[in-house]
Amino acid sequence: MDYLSMINEARDFIKSRINFTPDVAVILGSGLGTLADHIENQIVIKYSEIPHFPISTVAGHAGEFIIGNIGDKKVIAMKGRLHYYEGYNMKKVTLPVRVMKALGIDKLIVTNAAGGLNVNFKAGDLMIMTDHINFLGTNPLIGHNYKELGPRFPDMSEAYNKEYIKLALDAAVKLGINVQKGVYLALTGPNYETPAELRMLTIMGADAVGMSTVPEVIVANHGGMKVLGISCITDMALPDGLEPLDHERVVATADNARGKLVSIVKEVIKSM
Ligand code: HPA
Repeated sequence: MDYLSMINEARDFIKSRINFTPDVAVILGSGLGTLADHIENQIVIKYSEIPHFPISTVAGHAGEFIIGNIGDKKVIAMKGRLHYYEGYNMKKVTLPVRVMKALGIDKLIVTNAAGGLNVNFKAGDLMIMTDHINFLGTNPLIGHNYKELGPRFPDMSEAYNKEYIKLALDAAVKLGINVQKGVYLALTGPNYETPAELRMLTIMGADAVGMSTVPEVIVANHGGMKVLGISCITDMALPDGLEPLDHERVVATADNARGKLVSIVKEVIKSM
């Protein structure tokens, strides 16, 4: 079956369960799923029910859409994203974004857990993403370009919408939350980085490193969606004196920073 038909079948399935078009889509990163608890009048759709959807295999990623209200806005949240390192190809990883766009949504908020490379950051900080570096060695747009989905050579000069960045910074000030700004770099993972790799990434201009988000943001831009990205800095990935890291520590720090993330995202959604 061709990709367009897969997108449309998945869209039609979701449409059959809701009688409105959500205003905003939100992708929840590792340990950040509880943002979904703040959605009111919830409709839950498991990925396993949706045609052509793969299931998320990572601990801390649930694998369902939570659809409902935040304030007077209708929100569809992806609780559990798909990662390239799980073995899905890039088309599968980004299928949910295509489906959200096909539902008629053009506002996307992406969140993730990331390692901090900028020495001015500390674990538990939030970083508003101003830009990204695709260091995955591949791209979700490789292959046939369906012009119904977007142009062959899409612009990426403002991958992260400037107006949304301002909304997030304003929300942070209003809520009294200190936030960082910076460039997110994506590697495939699943291993964390060596000190030599971290040194290289810093020289390349990255402020934070992670294993997700970039594929979804490329596809969102291809489809003409406007994107806001927020990283939760779960550990400092500094090459000198690097301490052993594991997923449990990443999720635990995300748990701590989550309150701040939830407050900012809720505030931004209301003002979008
Ligand atoms: N590196 C890569 N991905 C991550 C990290 C890290 O240090 N922390 C959370 N996700």
